[in-house]
Amino acid sequence: MSTAMTTPAATAPVIELHALCRTYRTEEVEVRAVNNVSLTVERGEFVAIMGASGSGKSTLMNVLGCLDRPTSGEYRLAGSSVADLDRTELALLRNRRIGFVFQSFNLLSRTTALENVELPLLYSEPLVPQRQRRTRATSALEAVGLGTRLKHVPSHLSGGQQQRVAIARALVTEPELLLADEPTGNLDSRTSIEIMDLLQKQNDAGLTVVMVTHELDIAEYCRRIVVMRDGEIIRDEVNTDRRSAAAERSALDAAEQRAKLA
Ligand SMILES: Nc1ncnc2c1ncn2[C@@H]1O[C@H](COP(=O)(O)OP(=O)(O)O)[C@@H](O)[C@H]1O
Ligand SMILES: [Mg+2]
Repeated sequence: MSTAMTTPAATAPVIELHALCRTYRTEEVEVRAVNNVSLTVERGEFVAIMGASGSGKSTLMNVLGCLDRPTSGEYRLAGSSVADLDRTELALLRNRRIGFVFQSFNLLSRTTALENVELPLLYSEPLVPQRQRRTRATSALEAVGLGTRLKHVPSHLSGGQQQRVAIARALVTEPELLLADEPTGNLDSRTSIEIMDLLQKQNDAGLTVVMVTHELDIAEYCRRIVVMRDGEIIRDEVNTDRRSAAAERSALDAAEQRAKLA
């Protein structure tokens, strides 16, 4: 095992990209899906990555999540250069440090919420004993408000509940970085606010979050907004007027109460 992996600097930024490129080659053409991107994300940030379809957001997220390697340039994750790691080390790093949430939830359909959330612990190192896997998955589901749905399979849950299971699954390994690619893309606006409330609470508790969205009103819940076009970062700004999903939820609840009483 390389020293890059065993001595991560606690003070290093969670993400450091330097002149990162990811090129796709087909027989005729070469697509620079990510083109010369440099980006630093510090611990505790909440970054939205925006941009039109095809601008390279998912390609960038796949590299950030160590699901794909850059064609050129450097990626340091929590101080470790990802290029120095072999496949096994990369898989371990991913399991230990990164949680993923996708637009399509990606839950196993014949498997209960509890078993879905236990799954990442099955591949953890050191091994997590069965009883502890169950306890940790149960608390992760309770933390996302699904303590009464442990034995439900995905088809017996709403879209918002399925996404909350996926968030519990992403958080059960206690990662330092949560990557979410369009996590509210399949959800109605009320449910989107609930999901953003969860993510904001996790971020307030110290988790670093990088989230792709193409909706500005969702990006406005983040602390920083990065905009991509044709594989490049064309804007990178602090969001000084951040929306609070918790406040909006209470306002919606209060309005519903009033409507019921009227
Ligand atoms: N596996 C692939 N092979 C070839 N080209 C790809 C592949 N994946 C994405 N691309 C191309 O790379 C560019 C960026 O795609 P993507 O990262 O999916 O953008 P976004 O997520 O912003 O919609 C697009 O032009 C897309 O067609
Ligand atoms: Mg995409």
